[in-house]
Amino acid sequence: MIPKPFVQDLLARVDIVSVIDACIPLKHSGANWVACCPFHNERHPSFTVSPSKQFYHCFGCGVHGDAIRFLMEHLGLNFVEAVRDLSQRVGLRVPEPEIAVPVADPGAVPVDDLLQAMERAAQFYKAQLRGSDTAVQYLKSRGVSGEIAGRFQLGYAPADWQALAGTFPHYEAKALSAAGLVIQNDQGRRYDRFRDRIIFPIHDMRGRIVGFGGRVLGDGEPKYLNSPETPLFEKGRELYGLFLARPAIREAARVVVVEGYMDVVALAQFGVGFAVATLGTSTTPMQVQKLLQQTDEIVFCFDGDAAGRKAAWRALENTLGTLRDGKQVKFLFLPAEHDPDSFVRANGAEAFVRQLKAAEPLSEVLMRELTSRSELGTLEGRARFVRDARELLVKVEAPVFGTMLRRRAAELAGVSPRELGAAPAPRAGARAPRRSEPQRLSIVRQLTEMLVFEPSLAPLADQELLGELSRIGLADILPAELELLRALVVLYHRDPSHRAMVEHFRGTPLEQAAERAEAQAIEWGNRGLADLGSEFEGGWNKLRERVRLARIEQLGAKLRGVGWSAEDRELYLRLQRPSPGKGHELPE
Ligand code: UTP
Ligand code: MN
Repeated sequence: MIPKPFVQDLLARVDIVSVIDACIPLKHSGANWVACCPFHNERHPSFTVSPSKQFYHCFGCGVHGDAIRFLMEHLGLNFVEAVRDLSQRVGLRVPEPEIAVPVADPGAVPVDDLLQAMERAAQFYKAQLRGSDTAVQYLKSRGVSGEIAGRFQLGYAPADWQALAGTFPHYEAKALSAAGLVIQNDQGRRYDRFRDRIIFPIHDMRGRIVGFGGRVLGDGEPKYLNSPETPLFEKGRELYGLFLARPAIREAARVVVVEGYMDVVALAQFGVGFAVATLGTSTTPMQVQKLLQQTDEIVFCFDGDAAGRKAAWRALENTLGTLRDGKQVKFLFLPAEHDPDSFVRANGAEAFVRQLKAAEPLSEVLMRELTSRSELGTLEGRARFVRDARELLVKVEAPVFGTMLRRRAAELAGVSPRELGAAPAPRAGARAPRRSEPQRLSIVRQLTEMLVFEPSLAPLADQELLGELSRIGLADILPAELELLRALVVLYHRDPSHRAMVEHFRGTPLEQAAERAEAQAIEWGNRGLADLGSEFEGGWNKLRERVRLARIEQLGAKLRGVGWSAEDRELYLRLQRPSPGKGHELPE
């Protein structure tokens, strides 16, 4: 049995359109995608895939279902195989039942109620925009057409403290605060989060409104206010405009990632419909992964100023781990005085598209940055280059591209690719002696620290083994240590970009262990290990071996309890010998 919450999470992450499209090419048609039905013979397409419902349905033969069902029916997989297949595509590992049980919050508002509240609020804001001259004037002054405002469902939140009470008769409803629409202060007074702001609804991949961005009219602080993180809305996971942009992304065979709401809106108005924006944070691996599911080419478009360059570098770092051969990531730096919005208004769409086509490949931006950081004319500079390059390139799993990047970096540093990979980190050896004898640390703690240092190792963890370990209970492994490792594996499975690790455990019995793990984790970067992945796997192998021995011992103890004959005992001992001749006696 695969836990239901996992299946739901999986279905929320995969995109049925790309799953089906990989098997049978789909065409865009209105809100849906269509093809000739693969399950019966037909000449005119009646097989329909709905991105909003994440369902397919054939009006000809009546077949229907979700992405799992499709793989089962179309590829003849069984349920578990279909779940595995989809999990691989989105980088999830199917969990063991006892670990995946989520902590249910009995007081939580059902997601459907939150969605309804968001939808209703959006309708309200939209209607308010029509009624507000100042808001309409503001959008006009920014050059936003009525048509494009309609397309993006832009709205206006009135200046009142409780404007939403005009559409929600039950203003006290918990759903309003849980959805982030209403704020409750310490005195229990409730008021609207968004007041006197232009509203940008944020849709998830299914076209459901999961959050809002709100811009002040004119000057004022903060310029943008966004929905808080809610059960519906995780900033690091969503991209503004993605739902609307999908047909255009497909047609252009690329997606442009920009920084601002207004950039997306302006580009769309000028016919560049394949732009999406991050939500005021740096691009996360989760977002990159989501985009690479849609298309083979991402162009990050940032301002040409220092902040833009910094944002580009962060995006680059967060992209390395998700790169796959056959995918392209590029960077476009606009002139410093422009953002995409002002650029397209000043120069037109054609000029923008020309810039896009001349965007710099990730490899070039990467090498240029690395080279500019170190003086390659000196040994010290080259050593630094090697260290920086290794730290970054170790993340690239794409076999061909990774090899090419490493080769190029090695060339630049004047070392062999092997030396580049194995170069010891400069600070190694300067550490406290305790750390140079890591075998003294329990294996579980070592694995925990490695995982905290490099969350993308999570898929290599053996969840089944963890379950077994806690059942067996080994004297030298503290239950809290084991529990922390289990929890981290689950956490990083869900989101390898999770950064607030200690926060996650704040107030729980694992808090202290988490703090210690985080403090120690960084040391793994200083030990200059060429391949943390194999080290990690090696740790699991050791653990596996310990479990094997412990089980044999427990089994033995059980049998001894029932009573053994002398022969039994001898046979048992003989069976324990790893190879004939080299007998080692088990402790009594
Ligand atoms: P910008 O300041 O570049 O916004 O911030 P913009 O979209 O170009 O807005 P205009 O043109 O001034 O209207 C880029 C993005 O950073 C986030 C928003 O997501 C914004 O679109 N941001 C910015 C915030 O979340 N809060 C802020 O106060 C400012
Ligand atoms: Mn702008």
